[in-house]
Amino acid sequence: MSKSIPVWEPLSPDVLADQLGAYDSRRAACPLAESPRGVTLFRHADVVAAARDSQTFSSAALARRAVPNAMDPPEHAAWRGLIDTFFTPAQIAALEPRVRAIADAVVAALPRGATVDAVAQIGAPLAVRAQTEWLGWRGIEDELLGWMADNHAATRSGDRARTAAVAAAFDEIIRAQLQRRRAAGAAAPADPTTALLAATLDGQALDEADIVSILRNWTAGDLGSMAAALGVVVWFLATHPDVQQELRERPAGLAAAIDEMLRIDDPFLVNRRVTTTAVRIDDHELAVGTRVYLNWASANRDEAVFGGPDAYRPDRNAPHNLVYGVGIHACPGRSLATMELVVAVHALLQATPSIEPAPDAAPVRETYPLGGWRRVPVRLG
Ligand code: HEM
Repeated sequence: MSKSIPVWEPLSPDVLADQLGAYDSRRAACPLAESPRGVTLFRHADVVAAARDSQTFSSAALARRAVPNAMDPPEHAAWRGLIDTFFTPAQIAALEPRVRAIADAVVAALPRGATVDAVAQIGAPLAVRAQTEWLGWRGIEDELLGWMADNHAATRSGDRARTAAVAAAFDEIIRAQLQRRRAAGAAAPADPTTALLAATLDGQALDEADIVSILRNWTAGDLGSMAAALGVVVWFLATHPDVQQELRERPAGLAAAIDEMLRIDDPFLVNRRVTTTAVRIDDHELAVGTRVYLNWASANRDEAVFGGPDAYRPDRNAPHNLVYGVGIHACPGRSLATMELVVAVHALLQATPSIEPAPDAAPVRETYPLGGWRRVPVRLG
C-alpha cells in the first residue's frame, strides 16, 4: 500500500515568510511533500540517496540543455572531467592573491561606524570582481552587477518571459566575451575563457552553445550564490561574537567555520531531478516522471544527523554537510567558492576590530528559489 503524500505550497506566503522554519516543521511531520511543481524531499538520508542515484533520479529535469548540470551518465562524466580541469588546486592557489587584493579593496572602501549592507556592498561587488578577474572579463563589472539585480528581480517575479529575457541578456554578455577572444586570435589573453574556446572533447572543439552553457553555469550560479553566502556568513559573525572572536584569533579555522554557517542557513535551497522509474520513499510511491526537489537547506538541518540544527559544530558536522551537494553533480566550484569566502572574511576580520548588527536597520530574508538574506545591515568597528 502506498500512503498519500502531504500537499504543501512552497511559494505560499507563510512558507516564504520563514523558509527554514517551514522546512523544519515539514521535515518533522513527513519526509516528503507534494505541490503542483513536484515532490520535495526534506530528510538528509533521502536527499543523499537520491543525489547518489542518478539512474533513478535523473538530472535531465531542466527545460534546456545545461552543461553539465542537466546531464546524466555516461554523457555527464566526459563533460565533468573537462570542467574539473578548470578547478585544480594549483589554479585556485594562483588566483588567491588576486582575489585577496580585490577583497582588501572592497573592504577598505566600506564606511566605519555607519550601516553597511553585507550583501549589496560586500557580497555582490566581491563576487563580480572575483569572477571577472578569474575569467578575464575585467571592465564589465557594472554590467554584471546590473544583470544580477535584473536577474534577482525577474526570478522573484516568477514571470517566465522576464526570466527568459534576462537569461538571453546574460548569454549575450558571454558571447561578447567569446567574440573578443576570437577577434584577438593568438593575442587572446591566457584565461579560462580562452582555454574553453580551445578545449576539445573526444578530439572535437566544443559547440558555441555548450561553451555558453558552461560559462553560464559558472557565472550565473557563482554570482548569486557567492553574494548570498557572504551575507549568511557576515550575519552569523555579527550575531555570534564568540565565534567571531575565535576566528579572529584562529583564522585557520575559517573554511570549516564558513561551511558550518552555510549548513545552518543554506543559501542554495534546492536542485531538481526527475524519476526515471517508479520509486518508493518510506511508504510513499513516486510515479515515473515525477519532478523531485532535493531540499539541501532542509537536509542540512535534519535533527537525525545534526542534532539541534542551529548548534554550531564545524568539526562534528563537516562529514554530513550538503552545502555543495553530493554524488556526481557535487559542486565543481567548491574550492573556488571556499577560497573566495575565506579570503573575503579574513580581509573583513583583519580590517576591523568588530562586526555588529546595525542598530538602525533590520536584516531582510531572501525568498525562494534563494535562501539566506537579501539584506544584512551591519556596523564595522
Ligand atoms: C557558495 C557557493 C556555492 C554553492 C552553495 C554551490 C552549491 C552547489 C550544489 C548544491 C550543487 C549540486 C547540484 C545538483 O546536485 O544538482 C552545485 C553544482 C554545481 N556548481 Fe556550485 N555552488 C557554489 C559555487 C559555485 C561556483 C563558484 C561555481 C563555478 C564557478 C559553481 C558551479 C557549479 C556547477 C557547474 C555545478 C553542476 C555540477 C554538475 O552537474 O556536475 N558553483 N553547486
